[in-house]
Amino acid sequence: MVIQTRHLFKCYGDGKNAVKALDDVSIEVNKKDFIAIMGKSGSGKSTLLNMLGGLDYPTSGDVFVGDECISALDDDKLAKIRRSKIGFIFQNYNLIPVLNVYENIILPLQLDKQIVDKEYLEDILETLGLSEKKNSFPSSLSGGQQQRVAIARALANKPKIVLADEPTGNLDSETGFHVISMLKNMNKKYGQTMIVVTHDREIADEMDRIIRVVDGRVIE
Ligand SMILES: Nc1ncnc2c1ncn2[C@@H]1O[C@H](COP(=O)(O)OP(=O)(O)O)[C@@H](O)[C@H]1O
Ligand SMILES: [Mg+2]
Repeated sequence: MVIQTRHLFKCYGDGKNAVKALDDVSIEVNKKDFIAIMGKSGSGKSTLLNMLGGLDYPTSGDVFVGDECISALDDDKLAKIRRSKIGFIFQNYNLIPVLNVYENIILPLQLDKQIVDKEYLEDILETLGLSEKKNSFPSSLSGGQQQRVAIARALANKPKIVLADEPTGNLDSETGFHVISMLKNMNKKYGQTMIVVTHDREIADEMDRIIRVVDGRVIE
């Protein structure tokens, strides 16, 4: 088991403004799984992903990464888990415009004073088709290329788990498929567990398993 949640609840706000975003979610994700989270807008997909990645605390219930219960950790310890075990990919690539592709990719490692494994990075760049673009700036890249840079950045610290929130949301469907097939390659090659939020049925069909979220509840 790589990630597990037990009776996870998340409420935003209180009183009559309270929103129950997650409602008793218990899921298990295994090593090397390539999983889609699907559901309508507002169903709780991002909230679930954020809990899985320790970006936010649940209202109640537990999240386990490996055998560690991360919902009980303080901010510092949680940040450490995130930096060492988890890679995030968002719909907006969040690349730094004044840094080139290579600098963007290694920035999190540098901020965290981690050693850059050059051979591994070259391999990632090669697999993602970015070797020729190392010195390019984000503004000169297409959306698909920028998203691949964001993928490389998420993989740079060799995370065991990669969490992606609608990574193809801003891409046309062909480019979207290309990005997903790249993620699939990486999943096969490096064996990370990947959890991808999407509302594209065809993209979800590429994955091993689909977790469906309806009104904050999981229906598998
Ligand atoms: N920070 C927040 N504050 C208040 N309500 C929120 C917040 N984030 C999400 N919500 C609410 O929680 C529900 C689930 O949101 P979200 O997880 O973003 O759904 P999805 O990613 O499936 O579109 C929605 O009703 C949304 O409005
Ligand atoms: Mg969302």
